[in-house]
Amino acid sequence: MYHQRQTGSGKQATLESRGMANIKVGIIGTGSMANTHARRYREMRGVDLRSCYDTDTKRASAFALQHKIEHVAASLEEVIEVCDATSVVTPDAFHAPLSLRILEAGKHLLCEKPLATTLKDARRVARRAIQAAQQHGTIHMINLSYRDSSAVQEAMKIAARGELGEIRHVHGHYLQSWLTGTTSWGYWQDPNWLWRLQTAQGSTGVLGDLGCHLLDLVTAVAGDVATVESRLTTFPKIDRKGRQRTALGTARLDANDTAAIQLKFANGAVGVCHATRWATGHMNSIFLAVHGTEGALRIDLDQGKDKLQLCRGRNKAMGRWSTRTIRTTPSIYQRFIRSIKTRRQDHPDVPRGAQIQALLDACQRSSQKNGKTTRVGRWM
Ligand SMILES: NC(=O)c1ccc[n+]([C@@H]2O[C@H](COP(=O)([O-])OP(=O)(O)OC[C@H]3O[C@@H](n4cnc5c(N)ncnc54)[C@H](O)[C@@H]3O)[C@@H](O)[C@H]2O)c1
Repeated sequence: MYHQRQTGSGKQATLESRGMANIKVGIIGTGSMANTHARRYREMRGVDLRSCYDTDTKRASAFALQHKIEHVAASLEEVIEVCDATSVVTPDAFHAPLSLRILEAGKHLLCEKPLATTLKDARRVARRAIQAAQQHGTIHMINLSYRDSSAVQEAMKIAARGELGEIRHVHGHYLQSWLTGTTSWGYWQDPNWLWRLQTAQGSTGVLGDLGCHLLDLVTAVAGDVATVESRLTTFPKIDRKGRQRTALGTARLDANDTAAIQLKFANGAVGVCHATRWATGHMNSIFLAVHGTEGALRIDLDQGKDKLQLCRGRNKAMGRWSTRTIRTTPSIYQRFIRSIKTRRQDHPDVPRGAQIQALLDACQRSSQKNGKTTRVGRWM
C-alpha cells in the first residue's frame, strides 16, 4: 500500500492504511497565496502541516514561524522526504517541473494554476499524474479555486442534467483593477505582482492567471470548446510618477494584461469571455451566464459564492430571475485531503489542468494570428 511504503510497517502503517493517521503536508513556495494553503490545512483535522520550502530562505523561515511549521526545508527533496502530500505555490514557470518531481516520488500533489506555461509541459505532467495514480494511488489536483463556490457546483449539476435545454449562448468575465494603482492589492512593482507582468518570468499574463479560472468555470458548466478567436493585449504600465512604462530596468513588462475571447463550443453554443487587470471599479469580479433553450443561469461572485440566479419554468416566459442560496460545498483543500484519506480521486484533477492549458494555448495561438479561428488542441 502507498502509505505503508512511505512509513514502514507496524501500528502507524496500519493507522495510515485506514486513513486515520495525520497526513503530513508540505508547501513549496511561501509567498502570498501560500498563506491561504497554510490556513486551510491548519483548519483541518488529520492534517500535519509539516514542512515548507522557498528559494527565498528568509521568506520560508518567516512563513514557518507565522504558521507554526516545524521544518524549513533546504530543498524540494527534503519536503518530499518528510511529507505525504505537497502544495506547489510558486510562480507559474515552476509548476510543471516541481509537480513532475513530486509525482515521480509518488507523493500526493495539489498544484496551483495554471498547471504549466506550455501545453507540452502540461501534457507531460498529466501523463505522469495518471501513471502515479496507477502505480502508487497518488491523488493529484489543481487549485482552480473558484470551484469552491457552491453556486458553481450547483450550476454544473443543473447543466449536466440538461435542465437548461440546449445551450446556445455563454458569457463570462474576470475583472481586476490592480494595474490602475487604485486597489488595496498592492502596487504592480511589488515583487509578488511584478513577475506576473513578465513572460521572461514564466507568466502567461492575464490569460494564464485569470483566464485560467474563467475558462474552467465556463467549460465546467457549458461543456468543451472546439475553437476560439482571441485577442490578447499588453498596455504600457503607469508608474507612481504617472509615466507610461513597457519595461522596468531590464525587465520587459510584456505579458498580456487584457484578453477578449470568442468561443465556439463542441455542443454548438457560442460564447464570449473577457479578462483584464485594468477594470477600474472591480477588485476581483467573476461573472458567468449560460443561456439554454429551456432556461438560463447566472453567477456573480461579487454577490456571494453561494448565490445562483436562475430563469426557468414559468419565469422563462417573463424573463424573470430568482436567486437561490446554495449550501456550502467542501473546498478544494478539503477535497484534496478527503481524497487522500478515501483514496478516491476528486476534481479538478491534473488532467483537467492540462485540458484548460489546451484552451489557453489555443487562445495564445489565435492572438498571434490576429484573432484567427483556432482549433483547441489535444490535451493528452
Ligand atoms: N488559485 C488561486 O485562486 C490563486 C490565487 C493567487 C495565486 N495563485 C497562484 O499561486 C502561485 C503563487 O502566487 P503568489 O501570489 O503566492 O506569488 P508570490 O510571488 O507571492 O509567491 C511565490 C513564492 O514562490 C517562491 N519561489 C519562486 N521560485 C521557487 C522555486 N523554484 N521553488 C520554491 N519557491 C519558489 C518565491 O520566492 C515566492 O516566495 C501562482 O502560480 C498563482 O497563479 C492562485
